[in-house]
Amino acid sequence: MKPLLWLDFDDDEVDALLAVGPVSGADGHGELGALRERVCRAVPRLSRFAGCGGWAARRLTVIRMPAERADEHLERCADVVFRLGAHAHPVVDGWPFWHRIPVDPDRPANRYGGVGYNDIHLDMVNCTLPPRVIAFLCLEPDPGGGGESLFVDVEDVLAELSAGASGRDLSGLSYAEGRFSGYSAVGEAMARIPLLSDAEPRLRFTGKADRGQFSAAERESFAFVESTVNACADAVLLQRGQLAVFSNLTVLHGRRALGTRSEHSVGTRRVLQAYGIQCQKQSS
Ligand SMILES: [Fe+2]
Repeated sequence: MKPLLWLDFDDDEVDALLAVGPVSGADGHGELGALRERVCRAVPRLSRFAGCGGWAARRLTVIRMPAERADEHLERCADVVFRLGAHAHPVVDGWPFWHRIPVDPDRPANRYGGVGYNDIHLDMVNCTLPPRVIAFLCLEPDPGGGGESLFVDVEDVLAELSAGASGRDLSGLSYAEGRFSGYSAVGEAMARIPLLSDAEPRLRFTGKADRGQFSAAERESFAFVESTVNACADAVLLQRGQLAVFSNLTVLHGRRALGTRSEHSVGTRRVLQAYGIQCQKQSS
């Protein structure tokens, strides 16, 4: 991964961003330019991130806001900052725009919301237009001390794969994965997911894929890709007030298992998630 970009906001900057005004729901095309102008006036050093692809172009940025600020301030500030560089849009029907990632011991441990290790993946890997930008806002980290976020730069993986493929032909590898219902603005369902592509996302990988669908040779190839992905992962333990923003198309993500006191995490760990979609020309 290229060096992670950290941005520290002080109290004055948080106050200036809060004064930009509350926003909510999906971004319309009319207000967005004005909102971004106000954000850039409030905190001029953010100008370089403006535009609906602004955060996606930076791969991974972690913004640190003062942890002492109230939840409402952190959430509103994160919302304004996210919209500066993404086309914010809810993509799962019924979810609030900032959706709390569940901590549910009754879910399969390695699936979304489960308390175990969440395999590295691209969100909505089976959609023709996966969300372009993802944000995680940490309000309360795991009290058990686990739950580090994992991030993987796809370019790093592709470079390793081309260097170490040694005769493997990964170009034809495809698989089926995931449901497709209740989504908005993410295109169509893909019955077969090509692992590699010349167009973004260049690596449609999820460690959640059912290995039972593969032939022995395919399973070996997929395991090789998975081990390469895992070897390229960087871990970041998000703390209260930290907002991670990254491109879903060029940065894979996962999460280490919650800590040994994961039963305490059920009501405590609070990490909110938001999505930005592929932008329309008129919204940039
Ligand atoms: Fe995810």
